[in-house]
Amino acid sequence: MRILGIETSCDETAVCLIEAEGTFDDSFQFKVLGNALISQTAVHAPYGGVFPNLAKREHSRNLVPLLKEVLEQSFGNQNVKIKNQSDNAKFKNEMQQILHREPELLEQLIPFFVEHERPDIDAIAVTHGPGLEPALWVGVNFAKALSLAWDLPIVPVNHLEGHIAMAAVDMSRGDALRSPKASPREFGLLKFEFPAIALLISGGHTELDFIERWPVFKTLGETRDDAVGEAFDKVARMLGLPYPGGPHISALAEMSRKDAERTRTLSLPRPMLREDNFDFSFSGLKTAVLRQVKDKKLADDEKAAIAREFEGAAADVLVSKTLRAVEEYGAQTVLVGGGVSANTHIRHRLAEALAETGTALLTPPPEWATDNALMIALAGYFHALNKEFIDVETLRANGNLKLGTQL
Ligand code: KG4
Ligand code: ZN
Repeated sequence: MRILGIETSCDETAVCLIEAEGTFDDSFQFKVLGNALISQTAVHAPYGGVFPNLAKREHSRNLVPLLKEVLEQSFGNQNVKIKNQSDNAKFKNEMQQILHREPELLEQLIPFFVEHERPDIDAIAVTHGPGLEPALWVGVNFAKALSLAWDLPIVPVNHLEGHIAMAAVDMSRGDALRSPKASPREFGLLKFEFPAIALLISGGHTELDFIERWPVFKTLGETRDDAVGEAFDKVARMLGLPYPGGPHISALAEMSRKDAERTRTLSLPRPMLREDNFDFSFSGLKTAVLRQVKDKKLADDEKAAIAREFEGAAADVLVSKTLRAVEEYGAQTVLVGGGVSANTHIRHRLAEALAETGTALLTPPPEWATDNALMIALAGYFHALNKEFIDVETLRANGNLKLGTQL
């Protein structure tokens, strides 16, 4: 099956086409035929966070060029010289109705349909939540337009399920996956045992989920305030580091660890560490950092010490709650997903702690930890196998979509 993934939940616009076969448990294999992504990081950087309406505008601009690129990578240049049936008034009218809130997308899509044959693909997988609703709607409406024009079924995909699926991909031959343009080769999933625990750590989410088997999820706990990635970004801003702050905090903390002799000591709280639940809270930790930096001109080593202690505090809470979930649910495997799973220190601490309990730890390669459309195509494929398609009229974006629910 060839399935097209579309991702617009936050500040990455991404499109990916995979060809997959097999089931989750048995001989699953896939090839990346085409993959393209535009990050809006630079657009949002001046605001220190993602600005929803700006994200919506950028997604509307970027989707058609990305789709063209993916189709070209997959099938070569397939422009058609003769006009096809897309060039009629009824068709244009239907497209206008679907995309009346995305005029920039509509403007590009009509000529695109006139110039391009229907590609040889079988289904569309689109992120319908959770995320920023105005941003999600662009991808959802784009999927609806493609579905109608090309008569393709749509699978709605939970963004978080995509992150978790990405952790299970076998990257032992990851080079080709890193640059799918070079040579579309075949990949599979790592062998691992259920039940599993998923730790989702991103700019929008921090949660622990129980996975009885794929794809049956139950959320055990989540953050009561800020997501851990959001805390990384806010602390980075306090220290005068660019957005998104996670990688910058991580680099600074690493420097401080290497230069242990000169490092100043300070102590930050570990919120909810000892509470008997699976919930998190990061706003107190963020406020504690604010108290350290407020009205002070910090030297570089002081900033590094804060970054290190902040990262350590976040890691302590994440590791301890994950271990608690592993023990209580007898989990054989932990899958980590979301942008913050790119963090070396957190990965290292999780690996250390889980090695002691004999639990397998699966993490995505850092470059696939942040948002992408491969993860959406992958997660969507398993639902498409079960024919879990949705009517164009029923499909909606849902900013607060929970794992384990379809609508
Ligand atoms: O999953 P993602 O791309 O988008 C959301 O769905 O939120 O995650 C983005 C988040 C940002 O907050 C970013 O600062 C954080 O992931 N991040 C990191 C690292 N790389 C990205 N946080 C800590 N350490 C990193 N190396
Ligand atoms: Zn994400």
